[in-house]
Amino acid sequence: AWTMGAFRERAIARIREQVGTGRVICGLSGGVDSSVAAVLIHEAIGDQLTCVFVDHGLMRQAEADEVVSLFRGHYNIPLVHVDASELFLKELEGVEDPEAKRKTIGRLFIDVFDAEARKVGGADFLAQGTLYPDVIESVSFAGGPSVTIKSHHNVGGLPERMNMKLVEPLRDLFKDEVRALGRELGLPESFVGRHPFPGPGLAIRCPGAITREKLDILRKADAIYLEEIRYAGLYDVIWQAFAVLLPVRTVGVMGDGRTYDHVLALRAVTSVDGMTADFYPFDMGFLGRTATRIINEVKGVNRVVYDVTSKPPGTIEWE
Ligand code: XMP
Repeated sequence: AWTMGAFRERAIARIREQVGTGRVICGLSGGVDSSVAAVLIHEAIGDQLTCVFVDHGLMRQAEADEVVSLFRGHYNIPLVHVDASELFLKELEGVEDPEAKRKTIGRLFIDVFDAEARKVGGADFLAQGTLYPDVIESVSFAGGPSVTIKSHHNVGGLPERMNMKLVEPLRDLFKDEVRALGRELGLPESFVGRHPFPGPGLAIRCPGAITREKLDILRKADAIYLEEIRYAGLYDVIWQAFAVLLPVRTVGVMGDGRTYDHVLALRAVTSVDGMTADFYPFDMGFLGRTATRIINEVKGVNRVVYDVTSKPPGTIEWE
């Protein structure tokens, strides 16, 4: 019978067979996929693995610290943490187009990762937490022409440049299976149950050009939204929920004064694999409470809207 325990054993055997006595380097993104891949590979080959976490400054509130403490503290897996936020924000200045953002982030990620990999003496293999949907969304659609809807920066680029072979132990799995594997490997529930988070991070949740100020506003609003979702007991029912800071300002009133601030959009969807999704039907009480909290607590936002688009025709992210 197919069980996660059996998958784990087979995956470990396959990794050992592929890697032999070689050295593996793994880029951590902070998400479930790369974390599960890293823990699995560490179980297979121990110290032959080095993890590198390139912090692009586009993470959610407190996220970078959580990753570092999980790996260093909980698993005792050696981790190189590179704070490259200055570089990323500088290079992203004035970049408005979503694909241009992804390309810029992908290119910088490769540069920084490559430099760090050299510092630790290089490696023979590059480990990635690529999932089955990543593979098909970036390559082709069943029966259709080969097209890329969005360039996922975790596929391609690095291995050629660094002359490394790929180790992708999650390539046959869907997200829910990766979560089950994470639990099997003892990853904390708070980590395994986390909503997916895109590689380019908050950069694609700030349509238009990104600034440090906009990112700070988005981070605060997003944290309140997720907190309300947790309070309401809805976090695990929802596949992915996040805020998007719109490049639109509207007029409002606050006390005696007129405000002219950003509009924030809230998004929440249910899904099985991210390939199709339905918007989540929150009750109006929840939305009203959340909007009030965000507007009261986050300076720079004076209007909140809820996105009722499913996928298709919308994508989950706004960019
Ligand atoms: P979309 O917006 O395409 O999202 O419906 C489907 C899933 O993929 C995530 N996503 C990305 N993940 N790099 C990533 O690593 C990306 O560029 C990217 N774009 C979207 C999205 O968060 C959702 O889970």
